[in-house]
Amino acid sequence: MSANSASPSSRLMSGNRCSLPVAVFIVLVCLFLLQLYSLLPQKDAFKLDPQIHTSRRFRELDEVDEENIQMPPPRKRSPRAIKRKPKRPTTIIDEFLDESSQIRHLFFPDMKTAIDPNKGNGSFYYNPGRIWLDTEGNPIQAHGGGILYDERDKTYYWYGEYKDGPTYHAHKKGAARVDIIGVGCYSSKDLWTWKNEGIVLAAEENDETHDLHKSNVLERPKVLYNENTGKYVMWMHIDDTNYTKAHVGVAVSDYPNGPFHYLYGKNPHGFDSRDMTVFRDDDGSAYLIYSSVDNSELHVSPLTKDYLDVTNVVSPILIGHRREAPAMFKHQGTYYMITSGCTGWAPNEAMAHASESVMGPWETMGNPCLGGNEIFRETTFFSQSTFVLPVKGLTEYFIFMADRWNPADLRDSRYVWLPLKVAGPADQPLDYEFGFPLWPRVSIFWHKRWKLPFRWSE
Ligand code: GAL
Repeated sequence: MSANSASPSSRLMSGNRCSLPVAVFIVLVCLFLLQLYSLLPQKDAFKLDPQIHTSRRFRELDEVDEENIQMPPPRKRSPRAIKRKPKRPTTIIDEFLDESSQIRHLFFPDMKTAIDPNKGNGSFYYNPGRIWLDTEGNPIQAHGGGILYDERDKTYYWYGEYKDGPTYHAHKKGAARVDIIGVGCYSSKDLWTWKNEGIVLAAEENDETHDLHKSNVLERPKVLYNENTGKYVMWMHIDDTNYTKAHVGVAVSDYPNGPFHYLYGKNPHGFDSRDMTVFRDDDGSAYLIYSSVDNSELHVSPLTKDYLDVTNVVSPILIGHRREAPAMFKHQGTYYMITSGCTGWAPNEAMAHASESVMGPWETMGNPCLGGNEIFRETTFFSQSTFVLPVKGLTEYFIFMADRWNPADLRDSRYVWLPLKVAGPADQPLDYEFGFPLWPRVSIFWHKRWKLPFRWSE
């Protein structure tokens, strides 16, 4: 073999005047030592091979439950009632929205089935749709919410709309509403037992010109921690009774459990802004994502370094798709988002989207819901996305958080939490290209009841 054509390793060896047999011997010894090491008992296999371990520990999360909800037989109506309101075909969604439906208990099980951390039975099981009590025994009031994991005290904080008031219609054709009470906050170490931290941003009782006056709308609050300033920053949807103001609002606090001080509300970039969320990337940059142009498109805008405002950069995405209730997350360098359609409090089909950059372009990958039955999958399990929670210690799974709105009694709206995974081949071609996306499928698995694996946080 000529010197020029020799491999780098043989060149090295000839420099040291080593013979080939010696090199082979060294390699064999190394291989033997490696083999010996692999035979040693591994105390912490989970840490060494999270992928393999995860798949075994978490298999149950992928095994969906089936549902078989039947339409109830048509109700008997008097000839007078038929004359007044001619019969039209009813759908399962009509039944879901009808307070007096015979199958109402299937969507809104009563207090007897409530999840109560004080009773301990069914511990750590999530039961989508059932009433969920806090540690004081009261139903959790954190609708349209989001969760912040606070590294400083290793605690999860769940913020959401505190809707524990009477539901009414401000106008005959207006959406059902509850006066603003404020933003509720609950804390937990285990994501199942929630302590009420109180109302961390309260409504304004008297000043009618104030954004937080009780006659207005405060929805979808989300909180980020800013490492540059050491402050907790809350973003929310602020509106008037008729949803014509379409502002975002910003509040700030020194502590995760408040009190938050309301700073201002505005039309970001001069645009209308309704359903919204915020997203913090690994490098500390954060973004506001809001439904705009009468909900016909979403806008993404980087926040300023202190998270207290948007920068003047804005990117319209999913133009013409009419999506709202955005919930963004990141997995292995790719950005994902779950959104809903725009049907007010009524449920509709979720879509998953993906992008290589937060600012887009974003592609729609299709309906992420698996299990239940067709109507469950077409209604996001009778709920609407609000947040996707990365869970400390889990690599493959997220928790998909959604609201099962009860427009007849909004305070009784329920929570639908389900495991979400990014894996497997996509099942729908890209919007604008003849091909399947390079990124995998987003799946949300329906379970009547499920729990995170034992000692998931370790
Ligand atoms: C939905 C929205 C909710 C709430 C509701 C009022 O479209 O996602 O957050 O605003 O409309 O009808």
